[in-house]
Amino acid sequence: MSVRRLAKEQPESFAFNKKSEDEIKFWLAKYPDAKKASAVIPMLWIAQKQDGWVSEPAIREIATRLEMPYIRVYEVATFYTMFNLEPVGEHLIQVCGTTPCMLRGSDALIEVCKRRIGKQHEISADGKFTWVEVECMGACANAPMFQLANADGDHYIEDLDAEKLEALMDDLAAGKKIKYGPQSDRNASEPHGTKVLTDASLYDGSRAKKIKLPNAAPKGKSAKAEG
Ligand code: FES
Repeated sequence: MSVRRLAKEQPESFAFNKKSEDEIKFWLAKYPDAKKASAVIPMLWIAQKQDGWVSEPAIREIATRLEMPYIRVYEVATFYTMFNLEPVGEHLIQVCGTTPCMLRGSDALIEVCKRRIGKQHEISADGKFTWVEVECMGACANAPMFQLANADGDHYIEDLDAEKLEALMDDLAAGKKIKYGPQSDRNASEPHGTKVLTDASLYDGSRAKKIKLPNAAPKGKSAKAEG
């Protein structure tokens, strides 16, 4: 893993907005006051969702709120690559470069990102995109794929090739909604060309063998009548 440092340019200050404060209240309610440091990852995540990245003043604010030494929050923020330590574009593209995705063409996706956006972690000239290569995101059956993070949340975009990525980036740059999930004819990770679970009886339990539960009421009597 590369060394992760805070951005050279930092804002003067940081404050959570109302929406973030509501989320913080939810998370802090989960822990006893003496253990509120347990909320450090959610708090960093809330700061990132608010501003798109975690700034140094945000780290200080979280340390103060959780009564933690600043260095402890800094350690968490710099350890986990999910935290952006520099500002990112409107759409953050996290391309999986691990072996299954690499064998299925992630190099071609990375080439598109380099050509259209620039180097990893940089913001494109129009402010729309940032890209970064990440490790396996557990969607190998739909390789190659990337995770898109933006104001609409975090979504997987799968079954890609360079041409599809270009088209998706065109749509995102134009402010259009894109389809999340597989960019192919399948719904999820079923084999290509196969329709699965088309019959409700395959998953509604109606095909299951009837069994007699040990404490079931005898036939003809309801449990209430027995009691
Ligand atoms: S290798 Fe890319 S999602 Fe697993």
